Amino acid sequence: MAEAVITFDHVVKEYRRRAGGGQERGTTRAVDDVSLEIDAGDIYGIIGYSGAGKSTLVRMVNALERPTSGSVTVLGTRVDQLSESKLRPVRQKIGMIFQQFNLFSTKTVAQNIAYPLQLDHWRKDYQDRRVNELLDFVGLREHKDKYPSQLSGGQKQRVGIARALATNPKILLADEATSALDPETTSEVLALLKRVNEQLGVTIVLITHQMNVVQQIAHKVAVMSAGKIVERGDVYDVFAAPQRSVTRRFIATALSGLPDAPRVAKLHEEWDGRLVSVLVRQKDIPAADGRPAVKASGQNISDLIAQYGIHSGLVYGGMDTVGGSAVGAITYVFDDTNPRFGEFLTALREDSDVIDFGTASHPVEYGRAVAADEGETR
Ligand SMILES: Nc1ncnc2c1ncn2[C@@H]1O[C@H](COP(=O)(O)OP(=O)(O)O)[C@@H](O)[C@H]1O
Ligand SMILES: [Mg+2]
Repeated sequence: MAEAVITFDHVVKEYRRRAGGGQERGTTRAVDDVSLEIDAGDIYGIIGYSGAGKSTLVRMVNALERPTSGSVTVLGTRVDQLSESKLRPVRQKIGMIFQQFNLFSTKTVAQNIAYPLQLDHWRKDYQDRRVNELLDFVGLREHKDKYPSQLSGGQKQRVGIARALATNPKILLADEATSALDPETTSEVLALLKRVNEQLGVTIVLITHQMNVVQQIAHKVAVMSAGKIVERGDVYDVFAAPQRSVTRRFIATALSGLPDAPRVAKLHEEWDGRLVSVLVRQKDIPAADGRPAVKASGQNISDLIAQYGIHSGLVYGGMDTVGGSAVGAITYVFDDTNPRFGEFLTALREDSDVIDFGTASHPVEYGRAVAADEGETR
């Protein structure tokens, strides 16, 4: 078993709240009883909507925030009650990058990257050598004397990454590091983070509200909602068989084969009939912690269509690769005036994961359709 480099044990973080804005005085529980282990070498995604508590959680790793209760252990050291002076050696093992890059605008690229080395009193010639190594690693050598204002967003984040790596950390915390970037630049930065993980052996904690970021590079993912981790696991398993509606909503945004809300509205305009998406996953997911195994999905659709004699049209679809395996969705319009349609839909649901968007005259609200709670309250 891999060794844990970060362990949260029943961590709670409460903030005092001032009265005002219609809110009563009291406390906000930003992180609510989180226990989580992050193993050496992982790229661990933590996903959740704004306000879920992700930043608060990750800021407790380098003790920028202290828990109200519970413990945080990083690289074998309990950091939650450590004094600032004793934290210094632990913090040197942790790099951090941010959405807004947080570069010094009056320093050049090279000076920004050298900054942590200066703080750490490296000899000037060692600093220069290290800065050049890092410039090569992130591909910015020819930009070393530029100022941040002369760089693109992706280049700025590469400077942020080089600076975070300067003192050879074991852990890199990325808080919405790609959220200010367009999709193409996001992919480039994520590819760089993947190299950081694979070539330098750095464990990465990837905080994001974008599922496609998790999908692109994370090995594991935890879904946070209202301060709690509501679901966690290997990225493929969570992607292919989400258990919670909040997770399903995130995944709907990242599966390119699943139509988004405007596309569903358009399909309703274009086609008569019942609009139904079927999730496709090729492999069974073995049982974990006593839960029944999740079966493959979408493997027998055409057989069922033939068996029940339902008129159908294939109107949308696509496959993605998640954790090296294929997962996707196919969308059909079915003739739901066929008397056997109800029976057919029941059989399809038994065989596969189905999202029912209804018909043009009786559409199912998008969020409700994709979340498809099965007796779940949120
Ligand atoms: N310094 C703070 N003081 C008071 N409340 C805070 C502070 N930081 C965060 N919060 C509150 O804690 C909750 C979680 O915030 P945060 O960790 O920033 O979530 P996320 O990063 O998932 O968007 C929010 O309700 C937020 O308003
Ligand atoms: Mg945040």
